[in-house]
Amino acid sequence: MSTAVFPGSFDPVTTGHVDLIRRASRMFDRLVVGVLVNSAKQPLFSKEERVAMLREITADQDNIEVSSFEGLLVDFVKEKHADAIVRGLRTPGDFEYELPLAQANHKLSVQADTIFLASAPEYSYISSSAVRELLRYQADISGYVPETVLRYMREHGVVSN
Ligand code: PNS
Repeated sequence: MSTAVFPGSFDPVTTGHVDLIRRASRMFDRLVVGVLVNSAKQPLFSKEERVAMLREITADQDNIEVSSFEGLLVDFVKEKHADAIVRGLRTPGDFEYELPLAQANHKLSVQADTIFLASAPEYSYISSSAVRELLRYQADISGYVPETVLRYMREHGVVSN
């Protein structure tokens, strides 16, 4: 059985992430979405909230599971008995950032081979950091995040509309 890990901070999960997760889930028997817990950063959403939102969004797909991890990605990949890491590329700048990361992960563990998926053009300007920035100015974020995240934000008073 082929297993891949799709790691990220998902703070918050965007429509671009969801597109990549769905496409990656068709390429492997099992896809584990790994939510990074970075204790050095104060996230917009807690680990539990990010995991809950991702589980709701992917609930219709049996071969997707969602877990959080702390520490090295390669250790999470080993723990999940995965064969690959999937990362999305929106821009050439993403590639410049991702290539050394993929190489460092491969040096840490030969099991951790990274596969890059090109983001669909309609999502290439969407990022979690753009969403957080827009939220700071109470700007409209519809289209940036899935409906589940918008609903969650309304329920928690993060957005009012
Ligand atoms: O969504 P992001 O923030 O771009 O995801 C980055 C992520 C989670 C893939 C990356 O920060 C990561 O793997 N962090 C875990 C620590 C690690 O293994 N670093 C690589 C060794 S150089």
